[in-house]
Amino acid sequence: MKLFIDSANVADIKKAYKVGVLSGVTTNPSLVAKEGVKFEDRIEEILKLVPKVESVSAEVTPEAETAEEMIAQAEELIKINNYDKNITIKLPMTLDGLEACRYLTDKGIKTNVTLIFTVNQALLAARAGATYVSPFLGRLDDISEDGVQLVVKIAELFRVHNLDAQIIAASVRHPDHVTRVAMAGAHIATVPFSVIEQISKHPLTDQGLEKFAADWKKAVKG
Ligand code: G3P
Repeated sequence: MKLFIDSANVADIKKAYKVGVLSGVTTNPSLVAKEGVKFEDRIEEILKLVPKVESVSAEVTPEAETAEEMIAQAEELIKINNYDKNITIKLPMTLDGLEACRYLTDKGIKTNVTLIFTVNQALLAARAGATYVSPFLGRLDDISEDGVQLVVKIAELFRVHNLDAQIIAASVRHPDHVTRVAMAGAHIATVPFSVIEQISKHPLTDQGLEKFAADWKKAVKG
Protein backbone atom coordinates (compact mmCIF):
# COMPACT_ATOMS: atom_id res chain seq x y z
CA MET A 1 0.00 0.00 0.00
CA LYS A 2 1.30 3.43 -0.96
CA LEU A 3 1.08 6.47 1.32
CA PHE A 4 -0.23 9.88 0.34
CA ILE A 5 -0.32 12.83 2.70
CA ASP A 6 -3.75 14.36 3.24
CA SER A 7 -2.81 17.97 3.77
CA ALA A 8 -2.52 21.42 2.23
CA ASN A 9 0.07 22.44 4.82
CA VAL A 10 3.44 23.16 3.23
CA ALA A 11 5.49 22.36 6.34
CA ASP A 12 3.81 18.98 6.81
CA ILE A 13 4.09 18.07 3.13
CA LYS A 14 7.80 19.03 3.13
CA LYS A 15 8.48 16.91 6.23
CA ALA A 16 6.72 13.85 4.83
CA TYR A 17 8.35 14.19 1.39
CA LYS A 18 11.80 14.47 2.98
CA VAL A 19 11.29 11.20 4.85
CA GLY A 20 10.88 9.57 1.45
CA VAL A 21 7.63 7.70 2.06
CA LEU A 22 5.26 9.78 -0.01
CA SER A 23 3.69 8.69 -3.27
CA GLY A 24 1.20 11.54 -3.44
CA VAL A 25 -0.72 14.39 -1.85
CA THR A 26 -4.45 14.87 -1.46
CA THR A 27 -6.14 18.16 -0.65
CA ASN A 28 -9.75 19.21 -0.30
CA PRO A 29 -11.61 22.51 0.16
CA SER A 30 -11.61 22.16 3.98
CA LEU A 31 -7.85 21.50 4.14
CA VAL A 32 -7.09 24.46 1.83
CA ALA A 33 -9.47 26.78 3.73
CA LYS A 34 -7.58 26.03 6.98
CA GLU A 35 -4.41 27.39 5.42
CA GLY A 36 -5.80 30.87 4.66
CA VAL A 37 -4.18 31.05 1.22
CA LYS A 38 -5.47 31.20 -2.34
CA PHE A 39 -6.34 27.70 -3.56
CA GLU A 40 -4.55 27.84 -6.94
CA ASP A 41 -1.42 29.33 -5.34
CA ARG A 42 -1.23 26.55 -2.77
CA ILE A 43 -1.74 23.83 -5.39
CA GLU A 44 1.07 25.33 -7.46
CA GLU A 45 3.31 25.45 -4.39
CA ILE A 46 2.55 21.81 -3.54
CA LEU A 47 3.20 20.65 -7.10
CA LYS A 48 6.64 22.25 -6.93
CA LEU A 49 7.38 20.76 -3.51
CA VAL A 50 6.78 17.14 -4.49
CA PRO A 51 8.00 16.67 -8.07
CA LYS A 52 8.53 12.94 -7.79
CA VAL A 53 5.15 11.77 -6.54
CA GLU A 54 2.59 10.03 -8.76
CA SER A 55 -0.33 12.31 -7.88
CA VAL A 56 -1.34 15.63 -6.33
CA SER A 57 -5.11 15.80 -6.00
CA ALA A 58 -6.65 19.23 -6.50
CA GLU A 59 -10.40 19.27 -5.87
CA VAL A 60 -12.90 21.28 -7.86
CA THR A 61 -14.53 23.83 -5.55
CA PRO A 62 -18.10 23.61 -4.20
CA GLU A 63 -19.05 26.46 -6.56
CA ALA A 64 -18.83 24.01 -9.45
CA GLU A 65 -22.06 22.03 -9.39
CA THR A 66 -22.54 20.99 -13.00
CA ALA A 67 -20.20 18.76 -15.00
CA GLU A 68 -19.44 21.70 -17.31
CA GLU A 69 -18.46 23.90 -14.36
CA MET A 70 -16.27 21.15 -12.92
CA ILE A 71 -14.56 20.61 -16.27
CA ALA A 72 -13.95 24.35 -16.64
CA GLN A 73 -12.32 24.45 -13.19
CA ALA A 74 -10.33 21.30 -13.95
CA GLU A 75 -8.96 22.87 -17.12
CA GLU A 76 -7.71 25.87 -15.14
CA LEU A 77 -6.15 23.60 -12.50
CA ILE A 78 -4.38 21.52 -15.11
CA LYS A 79 -2.77 24.65 -16.54
CA ILE A 80 -1.11 25.32 -13.16
CA ASN A 81 1.00 22.25 -13.72
CA ASN A 82 1.66 22.88 -17.40
CA TYR A 83 -0.10 19.63 -18.18
CA ASP A 84 2.37 17.54 -16.22
CA LYS A 85 0.98 14.19 -15.29
CA ASN A 86 1.02 14.33 -11.52
CA ILE A 87 -1.95 16.66 -11.07
CA THR A 88 -5.11 14.70 -10.41
CA ILE A 89 -8.53 16.31 -10.55
CA LYS A 90 -10.62 15.44 -7.53
CA LEU A 91 -14.34 15.35 -8.19
CA PRO A 92 -17.35 14.87 -5.93
CA MET A 93 -19.35 11.64 -6.01
CA THR A 94 -22.38 13.06 -7.82
CA LEU A 95 -23.76 12.30 -11.27
CA ASP A 96 -22.23 15.56 -12.50
CA GLY A 97 -18.94 14.61 -10.87
CA LEU A 98 -19.04 11.27 -12.68
CA GLU A 99 -19.81 12.97 -16.00
CA ALA A 100 -16.81 15.26 -15.50
CA CYS A 101 -14.75 12.21 -14.51
CA ARG A 102 -15.57 10.38 -17.73
CA TYR A 103 -14.79 13.49 -19.81
CA LEU A 104 -11.44 14.12 -18.11
CA THR A 105 -10.45 10.45 -18.15
CA ASP A 106 -11.12 10.30 -21.87
CA LYS A 107 -8.78 13.29 -22.25
CA GLY A 108 -6.05 11.37 -20.40
CA ILE A 109 -6.33 13.35 -17.18
CA LYS A 110 -6.08 11.57 -13.84
CA THR A 111 -9.16 11.74 -11.61
CA ASN A 112 -10.03 11.01 -8.00
CA VAL A 113 -13.70 10.59 -7.10
CA THR A 114 -14.18 11.61 -3.49
CA LEU A 115 -16.76 11.31 -0.71
CA ILE A 116 -17.46 7.63 -1.38
CA PHE A 117 -19.49 5.88 1.30
CA THR A 118 -20.88 2.78 -0.45
CA VAL A 119 -19.69 -0.04 -2.68
CA ASN A 120 -22.14 1.08 -5.37
CA GLN A 121 -20.66 4.56 -5.42
CA ALA A 122 -17.20 3.03 -5.85
CA LEU A 123 -18.53 0.89 -8.71
CA LEU A 124 -19.97 3.95 -10.47
CA ALA A 125 -16.76 5.92 -10.04
CA ALA A 126 -14.68 3.06 -11.40
CA ARG A 127 -17.03 2.70 -14.38
CA ALA A 128 -16.75 6.45 -15.02
CA GLY A 129 -13.04 5.83 -15.49
CA ALA A 130 -11.75 7.22 -12.19
CA THR A 131 -8.04 6.68 -11.63
CA TYR A 132 -8.67 6.74 -7.88
CA VAL A 133 -11.76 6.31 -5.68
CA SER A 134 -11.72 7.72 -2.16
CA PRO A 135 -13.87 6.00 0.49
CA PHE A 136 -13.98 8.05 3.73
CA LEU A 137 -13.46 5.64 6.62
CA GLY A 138 -13.41 7.90 9.63
CA ARG A 139 -16.69 9.57 8.72
CA LEU A 140 -18.40 6.16 8.52
CA ASP A 141 -16.94 5.24 11.91
CA ASP A 142 -18.33 8.58 13.18
CA ILE A 143 -21.86 7.36 12.43
CA SER A 144 -21.24 3.92 13.98
CA GLU A 145 -20.58 2.12 10.71
CA ASP A 146 -17.38 0.22 9.93
CA GLY A 147 -15.28 2.28 7.51
CA VAL A 148 -12.64 -0.41 7.05
CA GLN A 149 -15.31 -2.93 6.01
CA LEU A 150 -16.22 -0.60 3.14
CA VAL A 151 -12.61 -0.79 1.90
CA VAL A 152 -12.66 -4.59 2.27
CA LYS A 153 -15.76 -4.76 0.08
CA ILE A 154 -14.56 -2.29 -2.56
CA ALA A 155 -11.23 -4.14 -2.84
CA GLU A 156 -13.13 -7.39 -3.37
CA LEU A 157 -15.43 -5.79 -5.95
CA PHE A 158 -12.50 -4.39 -7.93
CA ARG A 159 -10.70 -7.74 -7.77
CA VAL A 160 -13.72 -9.84 -8.83
CA HIS A 161 -14.59 -7.53 -11.73
CA ASN A 162 -11.06 -6.61 -12.71
CA LEU A 163 -11.61 -2.88 -12.27
CA ASP A 164 -8.39 -0.93 -12.32
CA ALA A 165 -9.35 2.13 -10.28
CA GLN A 166 -7.08 2.45 -7.25
CA ILE A 167 -8.60 2.69 -3.80
CA ILE A 168 -7.41 5.64 -1.72
CA ALA A 169 -8.48 5.01 1.88
CA ALA A 170 -9.31 8.52 3.08
CA SER A 171 -10.50 10.10 6.32
CA VAL A 172 -7.91 7.92 8.00
CA ARG A 173 -7.67 8.98 11.60
CA HIS A 174 -5.27 6.63 13.43
CA PRO A 175 -2.62 3.89 13.07
CA ASP A 176 -5.09 1.00 13.31
CA HIS A 177 -6.93 2.37 10.26
CA VAL A 178 -3.64 2.30 8.33
CA THR A 179 -2.87 -1.33 9.20
CA ARG A 180 -6.39 -2.52 8.55
CA VAL A 181 -6.83 -0.82 5.17
CA ALA A 182 -3.41 -2.08 4.07
CA MET A 183 -4.45 -5.63 4.94
CA ALA A 184 -7.84 -5.05 3.28
CA GLY A 185 -6.19 -4.28 -0.04
CA ALA A 186 -6.38 -0.49 -0.32
CA HIS A 187 -3.82 0.61 -2.88
CA ILE A 188 -3.18 3.85 -1.05
CA ALA A 189 -3.93 5.41 2.34
CA THR A 190 -3.98 9.18 2.48
CA VAL A 191 -3.11 10.29 5.98
CA PRO A 192 -2.38 13.45 7.94
CA PHE A 193 1.24 14.02 8.94
CA SER A 194 0.32 13.26 12.57
CA VAL A 195 -0.57 9.69 11.53
CA ILE A 196 2.74 9.28 9.65
CA GLU A 197 4.49 10.30 12.89
CA GLN A 198 2.36 7.95 14.96
CA ILE A 199 2.98 4.92 12.76
CA SER A 200 6.73 5.52 12.91
CA LYS A 201 6.76 5.10 16.68
CA HIS A 202 6.67 2.30 19.22
CA PRO A 203 7.43 2.51 22.95
CA LEU A 204 9.84 -0.44 22.65
CA THR A 205 11.73 1.41 19.90
CA ASP A 206 12.11 4.38 22.26
CA GLN A 207 13.13 2.13 25.15
CA GLY A 208 15.59 0.31 22.92
CA LEU A 209 17.16 3.58 21.80
CA GLU A 210 17.47 4.76 25.41
CA LYS A 211 19.18 1.49 26.36
CA PHE A 212 21.58 1.70 23.40
CA ALA A 213 22.42 5.28 24.36
CA ALA A 214 22.98 4.36 28.04
CA ASP A 215 25.10 1.30 27.17
CA TRP A 216 27.08 3.25 24.59
CA LYS A 217 28.26 5.62 27.32
CA LYS A 218 29.92 2.60 28.99
CA ALA A 219 31.47 1.23 25.78
CA VAL A 220 35.23 1.34 25.19
CA LYS A 221 35.91 4.01 22.60
CA GLY A 222 38.99 4.24 20.47
O1 G3P B 1 -9.10 12.45 3.00
C1 G3P B 1 -10.30 13.01 3.40
C2 G3P B 1 -10.10 13.76 4.65
O2 G3P B 1 -9.46 14.99 4.43
C3 G3P B 1 -11.31 13.90 5.47
O3 G3P B 1 -10.89 13.56 6.71
O4 G3P B 1 -10.98 13.46 9.12
O5 G3P B 1 -12.21 15.28 7.88
O6 G3P B 1 -13.03 12.95 7.85
P1 G3P B 1 -11.84 13.83 7.94
